[in-house]
This record gives sequence, C-alpha cells and structure tokens, in this order.
Amino acid sequence: MRTRFFYLSTTVLLTTFLFGFAIQKTDNKTKQAPKVDNCLSCHKDIDDMPQGYSDYDVHRQAGLTCASCHGGDPSSTNQEVAMSPAKGYVGVPKRKDIPKFCGKCHSNIDYMRVYQPRIATDQVTQYYTSMHGKKLMAGDENVAECASCHTAHGIFPVKDPRSTVYKLNIPNTCNKCHGNSELMKKYNLPSNQLEEYSKSVHGIALLKQNDLGAPACNDCHGNHGAMPPGITSIAHVCGMCHSSNMEYFNATKMAKAFAEQDFHGCEQCHGNHCVQKPTDDMIGVGKNSKCVDCHDKGDVGYVAAEKIEGEIVQLKNSFDTATSKWEEVRQKGMNDVDIGFLLQDAKQDLIQSRTLVHTFDPAKVVVKTKDGMDITNKAIMLSDKEISEYYTRRNGFAAATLAFLVIVGALYFKIKDREKRK
Ligand code: HEC
Ligand code: HEC
Ligand code: HEC
Ligand code: HEC
Ligand code: HEC
Ligand code: HEC
Ligand code: HEC
Ligand code: HEC
Ligand code: HEC
Repeated sequence: MRTRFFYLSTTVLLTTFLFGFAIQKTDNKTKQAPKVDNCLSCHKDIDDMPQGYSDYDVHRQAGLTCASCHGGDPSSTNQEVAMSPAKGYVGVPKRKDIPKFCGKCHSNIDYMRVYQPRIATDQVTQYYTSMHGKKLMAGDENVAECASCHTAHGIFPVKDPRSTVYKLNIPNTCNKCHGNSELMKKYNLPSNQLEEYSKSVHGIALLKQNDLGAPACNDCHGNHGAMPPGITSIAHVCGMCHSSNMEYFNATKMAKAFAEQDFHGCEQCHGNHCVQKPTDDMIGVGKNSKCVDCHDKGDVGYVAAEKIEGEIVQLKNSFDTATSKWEEVRQKGMNDVDIGFLLQDAKQDLIQSRTLVHTFDPAKVVVKTKDGMDITNKAIMLSDKEISEYYTRRNGFAAATLAFLVIVGALYFKIKDREKRK
C-alpha cells in the first residue's frame, strides 16, 4: 500500500514538473526567436552581416526580425521579393532619418508597453531639443543620432554592462566624437572633457572605484536632451546629488548676483569636468582661495572668507588633536568607546560646516563649528583623563609589585633564618 502510494505520487510530481518545464520552454521560444527570419538566414549564409551584429541584441531577443526595422518580407527566401519596396522594404536609413526610423516603435507608447510597461517613449522628442537633434535637423551629419550612441545591431538593455550606454561605458561612447580634436575644432569646442573628467572626483569614483552614484556625462547633460547646462541650471544639475549645497547657495544674495553677472554657479568655484576634492584653503584669503577672485581686502566677502576659514581650520586642528589623543588611549588599552562616539559626532560637525560654507555667512558656519569645538574639547578632556589614569594605575601596579617583592624577600630570609637555627 505504502509503496504504491509512493510510486503514484512520484509519477504525479514528475509529470507536473516535466509538463511545467515544457510549457516554460515553448514560452521562451515564442518570445525570443522569431519563427522565420529568412533575412537573417540568407545574410548569415552569404556572410553579409551588418557591422557589430549580436545574437543577444535586445531586439533580436524580443523576437523582432531584420524586417521589423528595415521592412520587407522575412518569410521569403528570395532576395528580390524579401527586399522589395512592394513588401515595405526601406533599406538602410539615411542618417538624418534615423530618429524617425527608431521612433516608429520607441515613440509608440501602445506598442512599447507590450514589452516593458515602464519604458519611456520620449527619446525622439527629447532628442530634437538637444544640440545633436537641432543640428541633425539642420543637416549636420557629424552629430550623434540614435545609432551613434546605441549602435544599430548590437543593442543591449541600458543596465546591461555590454551596453554602449551602460553607466561605466558612457564616457567612452561620448568621447568617440568629443575626444576627436579635428572634429571638435570645426565647432570651436574643446575636446578634453574625458581627459579632465577622468582626473576629477567624479571620474575617479565612477571609472576607478565603480561607484555608480557618481555622475557620468549623461547625468549632467541628459541622455537624449544633451546640452551644456545653462547658467541658471548648473546649480540644479549639481544639486540633483548635492542638494544641501544647492539649497544653501541658492538662498544667498551672492547667488542672485552670480545670475545677474553671468557667473556659472557651482562651476565658478569647482569647475565642471575637473571637479577636485575641495580643501579648506579654497576659502579664506590665501593664494588658493576662490573668494579673492572676486572680493578685495576689506569688503564684506573678504571679511566673511577670513572668518569662515578661521572657524573651520580651528575645528579641524582641534579634531586632529582629539584624534591623535584617542589613538594614544587605544594603544594603552584604556576605555576608548565613549571618545570614539564623540569623535564621530565631531566629524559630522566638521563635514556639515564645510557644506555650510555655501551660505557664505560666518554666523551660520559658527553654529556648527562651535558645536564641534565643544565636542572635540570634551573628547580631549576624556582622553587626558584616561591617559593619566593609565599612568596612575601603572605607578600603583609598580608600587604594589615592589611591596610584594619586599614581603616575599622578607619571608624568604625569615624561612632561611629558621632553617639555619634548626
Ligand atoms: C536570399 C538572400 C537574401 C535575403 C532573403 C535577404 N537579403 Fe538583404 N541582402 C542580400 C544581399 C546579397 C545583399 C547585398 C547586395 C545587394 O544590396 O543586393 C543584401 C543587402 C541588404 C541590405 C543593405 C542594402 C544597402 O543598401 O546597403 C539590407 C539593409 C538588407 N539586405 C536587409 C534585408 C532584410 C530586412 C531582409 C528580409 C526582409 C533581407 N535583407 C533579406 C541578400 C538577402
Ligand atoms: C533596431 C533596428 C534594426 C534592426 C533590427 C536591424 N537593423 Fe540593420 N540597420 C539599422 C540602422 C539604423 C542602420 C543604419 C545605421 C548603421 O549603419 O549602423 C542599419 C544598417 C544596416 C546595413 C548597412 C550597414 C552595415 O552595417 O552593413 C545592413 C546590411 C543591415 N542593416 C542589415 C541588417 C540585417 C541583416 C538585420 C537582421 C539581422 C538588421 N539589419 C537588423 C537598424 C536595424
Ligand atoms: C548622445 C547619445 C544618445 C543618443 C543620440 C540617443 N541616446 Fe538613447 N540613451 C542614451 C543614454 C546615455 C541612455 C540612458 C542610460 C541610462 O539610463 O543609464 C539612453 C537610453 C535609451 C533608451 C532606454 C529607455 C530610456 O529612455 O532611458 C532607449 C529606448 C533609447 N535610449 C532610445 C534612443 C532613441 C530612439 C534615440 C534616437 C532618437 C536615442 N536613444 C538617441 C544615449 C543616447
Ligand atoms: C520594430 C520596433 C523597434 C524599432 C524600429 C526599434 N526598436 Fe528598440 N526596442 C524595441 C522593443 C520592443 C524593445 C524592448 C525589448 C524588451 O525589453 O524586451 C526595444 C528596446 C530598445 C533598447 C533597450 C531599452 C532598455 O530596456 O534598456 C534600446 C536602447 C533601443 N531599443 C534602441 C533602439 C534604437 C537606437 C533603434 C533605432 C536604431 C531602435 N531601438 C529601433 C522595438 C524597436
Ligand atoms: C557621433 C558623434 C557624437 C557623439 C557620439 C556624441 N556627440 Fe555630442 N556633439 C557632437 C557634435 C559634432 C557636436 C557639435 C554640435 C554643435 O555644437 O554645433 C556635439 C555637441 C554636444 C553638446 C553641445 C556643446 C555645445 O556647447 O555646443 C553637448 C553638451 C554634447 N554634445 C554632449 C554629448 C554627450 C553627453 C554625449 C554622450 C552621451 C555625446 N555628446 C555624444 C557629436 C557627438
Ligand atoms: C558633473 C557634471 C558634468 C559631467 C559629469 C560632464 N559634464 Fe560636460 N559640462 C558640464 C558643465 C557644467 C558644462 C559647462 C556649462 C557652461 O558653463 O556653459 C559642460 C560643458 C560641456 C560641453 C561644452 C564644451 C565645454 O567643454 O565647455 C561638452 C561638449 C561637454 N560638457 C561634454 C561632456 C562629456 C563628453 C562628458 C563625459 C566625459 C561630460 N561633459 C561630463 C557638466 C558636466
Ligand atoms: C549623479 C550625482 C552627482 C552629480 C550630478 C554631481 N555630483 Fe559631485 N559627487 C557625487 C558623488 C557620488 C561624489 C563622491 C565621490 C567620491 O567618492 O569621492 C561627489 C563628489 C563631489 C565633490 C567632492 C566632495 C568631497 O568632499 O570630496 C565635489 C566638490 C562635487 N562633487 C561637486 C559637484 C559639482 C560642482 C557638480 C555639478 C557640476 C556635481 N558635483 C554633480 C555625485 C554627483
Ligand atoms: C565669481 C565671483 C565671486 C566669487 C568667487 C565669490 N564671490 Fe562673494 N560675491 C560676489 C558678488 C558679485 C557679490 C554681491 C556683491 C554685492 O551685491 O554687494 C558677492 C557677495 C558676497 C557676500 C555678501 C552677501 C550679502 O549678503 O551681502 C559675502 C559674505 C560673500 N560674497 C562671500 C564670499 C566668499 C566667502 C567667497 C569664497 C568662498 C566668495 N564670496 C566668492 C562674487 C563672488
Ligand atoms: C564661491 C565659491 C563656491 C561656490 C559658488 C560653490 N562652492 Fe562648493 N565649496 C566651496 C569651498 C570653498 C569649499 C571647501 C570648504 C572646505 O573644505 O573648507 C566647497 C566645498 C564643496 C563640497 C565638499 C564639502 C561638502 O559639502 O561635502 C561640495 C560637495 C561642494 N562644495 C559642492 C558645491 C555645489 C553643488 C555648488 C553649487 C550649488 C557649490 N559647491 C558652489 C566654494 C564654493
């Protein structure tokens, strides 16, 4: 009875499994490989495949044929028929027609939704607002169209590391043209964006440390609407990620004066492609100060710069002292936990006061630096206490050891003395 039940249930399980597997298999098949694509078979046979063709192309994987883009009849094995205009064959699109060619599907929300419910369908509209799109429309054949950035026959989903527009690959994709100095000279544009970017905090974070949170070219310029950000929008472009800096800066009188005088927001002090890690001497009145570019000795900006730098440098020094004392406490094996927490808080204050620089208001910076100073002073005091306790304990231990030795010595002689007497 038991064995029969066992066989029965195993058979049922096995059938369900195989059946499910078969369904899944056919499902995949209908979704991925088109039933007939004689365009592909013939082109493969005669070894006339388009440049950069991949079987893993996103369109191919979605079951589209060569004819989905080029038109024609993919069921015919006769070239004359398959590639006849009567069957809708349009051939190779001219460069200026490519946006419309891709837009046939990508601007059609009803069509695209079937494949990806959330895919955007505004690429073509956006593209025509970009410098590339405007110039293409005006007949310039050097600018980027869809296939320049995406290729035509080896396209991958944008999140796939093989995609030409996968985040880590974007700088090189743009650089194909923007790094071409001959080409860029015609437009009076520099061709060093990638070179500069690679040395910037952002480029190092993205290209060397694979930090996908750092901006690539498209994060600042847009994917399809690529334009240099206008003067009024630079702070917003940077502010997408550095929101506090933007908020503080935008609320200042200086920001308004910047806009009126055509100064380029954040870029004015940090640059665009070459943004470096800021240092405290960028503020103040020394030779690396940005403030003295525009402010002269005695004016309100100059005074503010001096005061803010003084505050930050004082906190930084105090923080460094506290950190080295804390190290000593740790080396001596004393209780360092509370001091560690204090230093974490002080570090936050230091970071925040550097962000508060963007209020360009000493009174606002002082609130944080004062808070930080109170904490570092407390940390220094606690460290000193632990260190002095260490010495007290050590001296105490030495005294105790000495006393112990004296007693042991005395006992020894006492015993010896007794033995002698015996
Ligand atoms: C029986 C073979 C055969 C079939 C089927 C076939 N082609 Fe071709 N195709 C060719 C050959 C050969 C050439 C290159 C010579 C020429 O242009 O006649 C070519 C050229 C092309 C070109 C380049 C034309 C140009 O102007 O440079 C495209 C695009 C193309 N085929 C697309 C398709 C599409 C789409 C289909 C299916 C609807 C298809 N082909 C079906 C043989 C074929
Ligand atoms: C996603 C749309 C799309 C699909 C699918 C597509 N093509 Fe193309 N094809 C283009 C575009 C756009 C161009 C012109 C831009 C370029 O030269 O890269 C082009 C150019 C060509 C050319 C001429 C340039 C070259 O690289 O040789 C040939 C030949 C060609 N395609 C054949 C094919 C064949 C064969 C297939 C099917 C395997 C196919 N295409 C599938 C969009 C497509
Ligand atoms: C200057 C380069 C460039 C050009 C030109 C370009 N794209 Fe893109 N495209 C990108 C980048 C970059 C992404 C996004 C990558 C990401 O989201 O990380 C993208 C994303 C996409 C996506 C994914 C969905 C989305 O919108 O994020 C589609 C679809 C697409 N592009 C189609 C097109 C079409 C169609 C054209 C022509 C009208 C075109 N692209 C022109 C660079 C370009
Ligand atoms: C015949 C309709 C059609 C044409 C024409 C077409 N595409 Fe597509 N494309 C699709 C579909 C459908 C998908 C979604 C496939 C999926 O996700 O399964 C897609 C996906 C993409 C993606 C990947 C989006 C993602 O998920 O990240 C890019 C990029 C893209 N297409 C670019 C292009 C470019 C560039 C052209 C023109 C050279 C083009 N397409 C022409 C139908 C088309
Ligand atoms: C096929 C070549 C090509 C590719 C690829 C390309 N561009 Fe361009 N781009 C150009 C040309 C040519 C111009 C000059 C048009 C003009 O300014 O008149 C231009 C102009 C621009 C401009 C406007 C510059 C100005 O001040 O006039 C920006 C911004 C830009 N591109 C960003 C990008 C970004 C970002 C990418 C990559 C996502 C990219 N481009 C990819 C060729 C290209
Ligand atoms: C952190 C944001 C940011 C990143 C990342 C970035 N750009 Fe820019 N880009 C800007 C700003 C800001 C401007 C200048 C706008 C102004 O002041 O007129 C600019 C200007 C440009 C221009 C106009 C010519 C010039 O050099 O002034 C081109 C072309 C350009 N960028 C291409 C690129 C390319 C290619 C990449 C990637 C290698 C890139 N950008 C990365 C912010 C960025
Ligand atoms: C897509 C998000 C993003 C955008 C847009 C962006 N940044 Fe950044 N930025 C980052 C990230 C992430 C880092 C940290 C990189 C690292 O690990 O050092 C960073 C670092 C910095 C730093 C160094 C901070 C430090 O303490 O070391 C400065 C300065 C900076 N960015 C300025 C700018 C400016 C100016 C712009 C606009 C022209 C800009 N950023 C646009 C994400 C962004
Ligand atoms: C690109 C030029 C430029 C740079 C660089 C610059 N400033 Fe200014 N700053 C101005 C202008 C213009 C004004 C407005 C002057 C006015 O209207 O009286 C201003 C005003 C000020 C004010 C007065 C604001 C008020 O509320 O009245 C202070 C404070 C100030 N700047 C501090 C700084 C500090 C600190 C730095 C360095 C981190 C700096 N500025 C860098 C151009 C600049
Ligand atoms: C007038 C010059 C000036 C302008 C304009 C300016 N900054 Fe700064 N920024 C500085 C100085 C000076 C420091 C360094 C403070 C320090 O380290 O003591 C700094 C530091 C930074 C830092 C690192 C400290 C932190 O907050 O993490 C970032 C990020 C930053 N700025 C982003 C921006 C952004 C984004 C904008 C535009 C909204 C901008 N800055 C506008 C002068 C400026």
